[in-house]
Amino acid sequence: MKTIFSGIQPSGTITLGNYIGALKQFVELQEDYNCYFCIVDQHAITVPQDRLALRKNIRSLAALYLAVGIDPTKSTLFIQSEVPAHTEAGWMLQCVAYIGELERMTQFKDKSSGKEAVSAGLLTYPPLMAADILLYKTDLVPVGEDQKQHLELTRDLADRFNKKFNDIFTVPEVRIPKVGARVMSLADPTRKMSKSDPNQKSFITMLDDAKTIEKKIKSAVTDSEGIVRYDKENKAGISNLMGIYSILSGKTLEEIETMYDGKGYGDFKSDLTQVVIDALTPIQERYYELIDSTELDDILDQGAEKANKVAGNMLRKMRNAMGIGRKR
Ligand code: TYM
Repeated sequence: MKTIFSGIQPSGTITLGNYIGALKQFVELQEDYNCYFCIVDQHAITVPQDRLALRKNIRSLAALYLAVGIDPTKSTLFIQSEVPAHTEAGWMLQCVAYIGELERMTQFKDKSSGKEAVSAGLLTYPPLMAADILLYKTDLVPVGEDQKQHLELTRDLADRFNKKFNDIFTVPEVRIPKVGARVMSLADPTRKMSKSDPNQKSFITMLDDAKTIEKKIKSAVTDSEGIVRYDKENKAGISNLMGIYSILSGKTLEEIETMYDGKGYGDFKSDLTQVVIDALTPIQERYYELIDSTELDDILDQGAEKANKVAGNMLRKMRNAMGIGRKR
């Protein structure tokens, strides 16, 4: 069976963008792959985090993974910092990566631009991400569009390591969904929806209540044409909303255009509100059952135990390949 690895940062409550671009795929893929899903808390601290909020977000993300349908009997769910092999492997891969290629990462440029104090961790984030993936002999990495460049670097690092030291890594493929790979901000549809956006109205979180969802969709930026038509270039706002509608309802974009032929954005938005509420309600119900349960801790304990075994094995091979420590 082929192996999948993917991770999400606990840097806020995850959004509909994370769900559509990543989590929804994970649930389908776990049927056919050996899956590892990670709460990448060490990636989250590359930018400042509030200690208590971070702790809360880590647990919340774990509960959400399960609430959307990740099944711990099929997939391994764990917290990155509970598997120390990640940072050690990340260090070794930092020593294989070049500063120039890290400085070229668009996420680094976006997150560091205009800032006076940028952590070194923000620059060395991609080798840690490569370590996450390569430790598990991952064949496939399902992610949204924005992670594509990091995946290319992961492949380069794996290749370089294999050639320079020993051929131990599987070079992973990226898997980006055909629709929904880049859900856009509701406030500015030229930018991606992001959980760390300071404008709360720009995203819908997986835990937003019905009233909040209604308000956010009502205020979502559209255009003055008033016709529900898919045109990403010229009608970015409405096209983004149509994409969300399509993915959550299973209706095609053409079907949606026909349904709203002759109707305005008001009707469309109020139906979309219902579609989003219907998709999120069962997830939220399951979430609230899990969040304070010992079941959640048991699942994370078991996940960390399994991940530590698998990652520990690869780490030993990496140390041997690079010649550090004594031969084991
Ligand atoms: P993160 O936490 O920013 O996002 C988690 C996942 O959600 C996807 N995503 C989106 N998809 C569609 N539309 C959006 N607006 C949107 N925003 C986010 C992301 O592409 C991602 O799949 N570096 C990663 C975390 C990571 C990782 C890994 C991923 C660390 N190690 C190993 C895969 C494998 C990140 O910051 O994701």
